[in-house]
Amino acid sequence: MTTLHGLLVDLEPFVPAFHQEKMHAYWNNESRLWATMGDCEPTTRAQIARIHEERSGARERGYTGVHFMMRARDGNIIGSIGLNWVDYWNRTAWLGAWIGEKDYWGGGHGTDALLLTVDYAFRWLDMRRLCLGTMDINERAQRNVEKAGFRFETRERKAALVNGRWIDALNYGLLRDDWPGREALVDQLGLREKAERRYGKGD
Ligand SMILES: CC(C)(COP(=O)(O)OP(=O)(O)OC[C@H]1O[C@@H](n2cnc3c(N)ncnc32)[C@H](O)[C@@H]1OP(=O)(O)O)[C@@H](O)C(=O)NCCC(=O)NCCS
Repeated sequence: MTTLHGLLVDLEPFVPAFHQEKMHAYWNNESRLWATMGDCEPTTRAQIARIHEERSGARERGYTGVHFMMRARDGNIIGSIGLNWVDYWNRTAWLGAWIGEKDYWGGGHGTDALLLTVDYAFRWLDMRRLCLGTMDINERAQRNVEKAGFRFETRERKAALVNGRWIDALNYGLLRDDWPGREALVDQLGLREKAERRYGKGD
C-alpha cells in the first residue's frame, strides 16, 4: 500500500500504533453517530486497540480490508476511509468513510477521498463493484456518494435506532462499467477550484 495523493487530502496507509489516538477521538465525538449508524456508547482506548487486533487476527481467517487515514492539505489528520471485505473472487468491496473532525465536513474533503479510494479499488485492486451503506438521515453522506457516481439500490426499513427514532438504512452501489474515472469527476465537481479556495494555489 502506498500514499494516494489528492487535491484536498492525501490518503496514507492506516498504522494502528500511529493513528490509534485519532481513532479514539473519532469514536467518542459526534462523528461517531453518523459513521456507525447511531451506535454511540463511549469507547475506550483498549476497545479501539481490540478492534484493530481483531482485524489483524481476522486477516488470518480471510478478512481483506484496506484502510487509509485522510490527511488534509494543511497537514492535519482528519479521518479515515477504506474498503472492507474485499472479495477477490466476485471483485466486490464495501466502502466506508469517516471524517472525525467536524470543521472539515461539507468542504469537499470526503469527495476527494472517495474518488481516490474508488480509483484505487477499480484500477489497483481490479474491483468491478463497490457497495456503501448509510442512514436516511445522513443527507451529507448521500450527496457525497451520489456526486461520486454511486446509485441508490435498496432501503432497509427501520434498520437502526438513532436518538430514539428508527431510521432506514440506504444501500448504494457503483459498477466499474459506469465509472467515468477520477479525472473526469474532479473536473465535473470542480474539486481543483474547491481545493484552491480552501488552501490556496499549490506549489
Ligand atoms: C460523509 C462524509 C465522509 C462526507 O465528506 P464531506 O467532506 O463532508 O463531503 P463533501 O463536502 O465532499 O460532500 C458533501 C455534500 O453534501 C452537502 N451537504 C452538507 N451538509 C448537508 C446537509 N445537511 N444536507 C444535504 N447536503 C449537505 C455539501 O454541500 C456537499 O455538496 P456540494 O459539494 O454539492 O456542496 C463526512 O461528512 C463524514 O465523515 N461525516 C461524519 C461521518 C459520516 O457520516 N460517515 C459516512 C457514513 S456512510
